[in-house]
Amino acid sequence: MNATTDFQIFETKSLAPLDAREALIDEVWRGLRKRPRSLVPWMLYDAEGSRLFECITTLPEYYPMRTERDILASYAEEIVTAVGSDYSRPLRLLELGAGTAAKTGILLRAATRLRNEVIYFPVDVSSDALDAACDSIGCLLPDVQLQPLVANYVTHPPKLERFGGNTLAMYIGSSIGNFSPEEARIILRNLRSQLRTGDALLLGTDMVKDVATLMRAYDDRDGVTAAFNLNILHRLNRDLGANFDTDCFRHRVRWNRVQLRIEMHLESTCDQCVDIPAAELSIQFAAFETIHTESSYKFTQKTLGALLEDAGFTIKQSWTDPRRLYALTLAVVQ
Ligand code: AVI
Repeated sequence: MNATTDFQIFETKSLAPLDAREALIDEVWRGLRKRPRSLVPWMLYDAEGSRLFECITTLPEYYPMRTERDILASYAEEIVTAVGSDYSRPLRLLELGAGTAAKTGILLRAATRLRNEVIYFPVDVSSDALDAACDSIGCLLPDVQLQPLVANYVTHPPKLERFGGNTLAMYIGSSIGNFSPEEARIILRNLRSQLRTGDALLLGTDMVKDVATLMRAYDDRDGVTAAFNLNILHRLNRDLGANFDTDCFRHRVRWNRVQLRIEMHLESTCDQCVDIPAAELSIQFAAFETIHTESSYKFTQKTLGALLEDAGFTIKQSWTDPRRLYALTLAVVQ
C-alpha cells in the first residue's frame, strides 16, 4: 500500500492477513464456556471502541495519557540524549502499537534536533491509524524517514534489518499493562532479540497508587468507560449475531491488590441465557456472574525492574511526573 503526505511517499508493509471474525469466534469459545468467564481486551477495539477509548483519554479522571504526554514534553531531549550521545549516528525509532502516534511526535521532534538522520518505524494492527500517523509525522517533521508496518506485534513480532545507528524501541501508552506478566515478558523478549548492544527500550508504565485514583480512572462519572466496556457486547451482537441485552449487564471495576491490576468486568444483572449463533453457543449467566474483559496492570519499581531484567534489559534512567503517577523508563541492551 502506498500513501502520500505533503512531503514524502512511504510504503506501508503488511504481515499476515488478520481474520477478525475467526479470531472473535475462537476467543468467545475459549473465554465464555469456562468459569470465571472472560473475553480478551483487543475485542474492545472495534471502530466504536477505538472512538470511545479516544474519549476516555480526554477524561479528567483518566490521568495516564496526559501524564505520559507531559513527561515526554518535559524530558524528550534528555531521553534522546540518554539513548546515545554520538549525534553523527542515525537513530531508528521502532514503535510498537503506534496508533496515530499522537505523542510520538514530541520525541521525534527532539530526535531531529539532536540527530542528523532519524527513521520512524511504527507498527500497528490498524492500517488506518498508521496512515494517520505517517500523515501527521510527515507534515510535522518532513526530514523523518517513515517505514510503517501493519502487523500484530504480539503474534508477528517485527524483525529489524541490520542498521548502522542506534535503535530506540518505544512501547508507550501503558499498553504493556494490558498483558499478563507472562505475555509481557514474551513481548519484551521478542523485542530484545531484535536489538543490539547500544540499543534501548523506552517503556511507559502506570504505577501503583491510591486505590481511589485508580478506580476513578476506570469508572468515570460520565460513564464513558462503562460504554467502552459494554461495547464489547454490542460487537458480539453485530459481528457474531449474539443477542446480549446490554441493559442486563453492568460495568464493574475491581482493584486486584494481589496481582496489582485494575480489572474491568461486565456483571449480569439477572439470570439470563444468551445465544451466540456464529459460535454455536448458548450461555447461561447467573445474576451477578461476571465476564472479565480487561486487566490493566500497575507497576512498582520492583515489578518493573523484574520484568525488564527478565527480558534482558538493564534500566538506565526513569522519568516521572511530580505525583509519581506514571513512569517512562529507558532500559538498555548491554
Ligand atoms: C490501552 N490501555 C493502556 C488502557 C488502560 O488504561 O489499561 C485501556 C483502558 N481501559 C479502560 N480505560 C482505558
